[in-house]
Amino acid sequence: MKHKLLVIHGPNLNMLGKREPEKYGTSTLDEINARLTAHCFQANLEVDTFQSNHEGEIVEKIQHARDSFDALIINPAAYTHTSIAIRDAILLLNIPVVEIHLSNIYKRESFRHKSMLCDVVNGQIAGFGAFGYLMAVDAIKNTLQAEKSR
Ligand code: DQA
Repeated sequence: MKHKLLVIHGPNLNMLGKREPEKYGTSTLDEINARLTAHCFQANLEVDTFQSNHEGEIVEKIQHARDSFDALIINPAAYTHTSIAIRDAILLLNIPVVEIHLSNIYKRESFRHKSMLCDVVNGQIAGFGAFGYLMAVDAIKNTLQAEKSR
């Protein structure tokens, strides 16, 4: 059976392509999801993608992942820096979680240096643009394989 991966994109990421392209690149979210899906296919992973501009919807999606998915990749966008609710939802999970950012948040304004999630996820990828999502898929695949062989 294929492992099931959920990818969550937070607020304003639906505007990728138009939104501050010098920071976030020129790919649209649809393009990123298409590359991600092709990469998951090669890695023999099933993938679902979800975007929301609403904190509560993201929390509910994470709660749902508890029983339905084997791994999570999340770019919480601006909620990274503020959301105890998303942090608490991630603490409900017992599956590998990768936090990802297109930009290197540590090279930017100081309010972006703090992630509410960084100490409750398996790891974080930041600063590699859309390619980071493919790196995150590889990290998940590797983690799932390591768990299986334990
Ligand atoms: C982001 C970084 C956040 O600080 C910002 O609010 C975003 C996108 C990134 O992918 O680089 O919306 O998560």
